[in-house]
Amino acid sequence: MGAFLQQDLIGVGSLFREAQDGSTNSTSWRIRGMAVLDSAQGQGVGGHILQTLINYASKQELPCAIWCNGRSTAQGFYTRFGFTQHGPIFDLPPIGPHVLLVKTITSKII
Ligand SMILES: CC(C)(COP(=O)(O)OP(=O)(O)OC[C@H]1O[C@@H](n2cnc3c(N)ncnc32)[C@H](O)[C@@H]1OP(=O)(O)O)[C@@H](O)C(=O)NCCC(=O)NCCS
Repeated sequence: MGAFLQQDLIGVGSLFREAQDGSTNSTSWRIRGMAVLDSAQGQGVGGHILQTLINYASKQELPCAIWCNGRSTAQGFYTRFGFTQHGPIFDLPPIGPHVLLVKTITSKII
């Protein structure tokens, strides 16, 4: 998904059907590539993208789990949308500390 300000792409996020073990799983979704342009951060763009991805997953097979390896610095962003930390912080070179964040959806979000 992309967020646009007029013609300019200012934010992105992707959702993949992928289990935490790397297998294809219809009830498990992975978020990758969440990013908002520096100048557009802190204005709700990333939250809007993340909520749209969550809503999309909630309209497929339920219950489902959405997960990502999130940067430690962005953990509060995911927590704000109901993701919880699973396991310890780990290093993902060259970016740095990451954490596995998981959100379980049991009912459709309208
Ligand atoms: C993390 C990122 C995608 C958030 O997008 P954003 O547009 O700045 O976030 P929003 O303005 O939509 O914020 C939504 C909510 O999350 C909170 N939030 C956003 N970033 C946060 C952070 N890094 N830590 C804690 N809370 C955060 C906001 O305070 C807001 O909460 P509120 O609704 O209670 O006010 C963006 O800052 C970014 O691209 N950062 C650099 C790249 C990155 O870290 N990507 C994530 C990789 S896993």
